[in-house]
Amino acid sequence: MLESDTPRGVPAFTAGQRQARTIAITNQKGGVGKTTTAINLSACLAAMGLKVLMVDMDPQGNATSGVGIEKSQIGDCVYELLVDGVDPRRVVRPGPVEGMDVIPSTLDLAAAEIELASELSRENRLRAGLDPLRTSYDFILIDCPPALGLLTINSLSAAGEALIPIQCEFYALEGLVYLLRTVQRVKQHVNQRLVIAGVLLTMYDVRTNLSKDVEAELRREYPSMTFKTVIPRTVRLSEAPGYGKPIIQYEPSSKGATAYEDLAKEVVSSGEERTGQGAGRSYRFGCDG
Ligand SMILES: Nc1ncnc2c1ncn2[C@@H]1O[C@H](COP(=O)(O)OP(=O)(O)OP(=O)(O)O)[C@@H](O)[C@H]1O
Ligand SMILES: [Mg+2]
Repeated sequence: MLESDTPRGVPAFTAGQRQARTIAITNQKGGVGKTTTAINLSACLAAMGLKVLMVDMDPQGNATSGVGIEKSQIGDCVYELLVDGVDPRRVVRPGPVEGMDVIPSTLDLAAAEIELASELSRENRLRAGLDPLRTSYDFILIDCPPALGLLTINSLSAAGEALIPIQCEFYALEGLVYLLRTVQRVKQHVNQRLVIAGVLLTMYDVRTNLSKDVEAELRREYPSMTFKTVIPRTVRLSEAPGYGKPIIQYEPSSKGATAYEDLAKEVVSSGEERTGQGAGRSYRFGCDG
């Protein structure tokens, strides 16, 4: 079936020449803008005409409710994909923007961590679950929980890239060093393909010296690893999920919408650089200065 023949509400799965770039949005620290980035980057990529799947790997389900999916109405979700190995096509729902689909999560997912603990190949459940979908999308973005447990390891195992949002605050860089070491360990033991897509400054407040200082230090320590785009702190970005909408629908002309559109373009072009010339951003783990 051609995608254009598919009524809205029924995700189409056309196996084409695509091979999705899979990006895990991760930071063990809570409240740094992972979910906000997952929703809005997905929506902006879809608005550019790309086919995008957002996977909610957090039992809190904020990415699910943030795009207007009512958790009580969800049948099978990412839990069934991980634990029962159901056909991934059963768990995909249409998202809020044309071209964007969602694999939702519910609180059930919290149990998966324990239930998978004794299973074989427990780190690779998500990777296996997503494999049949990879040719149907240009991008798969995974919203990770704020912990370094099995759900995050599954996300990093399923991904080719990790995108790390960090909030402009005093201890941000210490947390980043720790996280980069963890990503490096996952790369060594679970997924050798894994690279860093970039570090993203979020909740940037132009009026504070702290934001400027964190940015300056980050760009000094990790110059090629840091996205040029910075996400400003804006009330509109925090309001949008309450309406189940990405910012480009909720307030399309806002600073937050422009920032996530810029990020989407930067993410796309970094991939083109990497594949086109074989180089692009190349990252060493630790310090890339
Ligand atoms: N740029 C921003 N400006 C203002 N508020 C923001 C911005 N980004 C995120 N927020 C708000 O900050 C809070 C935390 O953001 P978010 O849920 O995206 O972080 P998270 O890293 O996913 O959190 P968790 O670790 O709990 O999953 C939310 O209330 C969100 O609406
Ligand atoms: Mg979150």
